[in-house]
Amino acid sequence: MKTVIGFNGSPRVTGNTSRLVQAILAGAQAAGAKTRLVHLARLDMGGCTACMACRQQAACSQPDDMGRVVQDVLHADAIVLGSPVYMWQVSGQTKMFMDRLYPLLNPDFSTRLVRRPRLALAFTQGHPDGSFFWPYFEQTSKVLALLGFQAVEIVSATGTRAPDDVEKQVATLVRAREVGTGLV
Ligand SMILES: Cc1cc2nc3c(=O)[nH]c(=O)nc-3n(C[C@H](O)[C@H](O)[C@H](O)COP(=O)(O)O)c2cc1C
Repeated sequence: MKTVIGFNGSPRVTGNTSRLVQAILAGAQAAGAKTRLVHLARLDMGGCTACMACRQQAACSQPDDMGRVVQDVLHADAIVLGSPVYMWQVSGQTKMFMDRLYPLLNPDFSTRLVRRPRLALAFTQGHPDGSFFWPYFEQTSKVLALLGFQAVEIVSATGTRAPDDVEKQVATLVRAREVGTGLV
């Protein structure tokens, strides 16, 4: 059975980003995968300290939750990463998470991700225009592809302000489920 892990980078654990990530996971689950949702805001996770221990091995020297998460990512078949747009970028939790994935890279920037997990990115934004942040979403996708993920799809929900606004966006949720199915 394939394993798909979803990471919600919004501090609102029942907000739009979490719901969008869960819609993707639901699609993966319907296709037969075992899925799990992790809220980044609930992890014991600090910023990268640039100790460079991960240049020698695919592990982090910090004794927090990211050591286990890095190992989980190394063994996953697919990853879903969701973030709200904060100040035109990913949330602080999401940026910290991405920095802490540095152990996935060898010193020559080749990947240590032997399984090359598939990746779906989920973004939510208050701005109503779906094209507004798209170049940034694609840039983020390219960075994660460099880490060794197979960047598959980007799903975005726009104009989401109240925590459940995305529930009214049926086409977006349908697409999210389809993307989840495609991960498996
Ligand atoms: C600190 C902060 C900064 C934000 N910056 C932006 C922004 O630059 N552009 C935008 O379109 N929406 C911005 N928003 C709105 C969120 O992206 C939007 O409401 C999102 O759906 C929230 O996700 P959530 O429901 O999962 O918490 C911001 C919200 C917060 C709290």
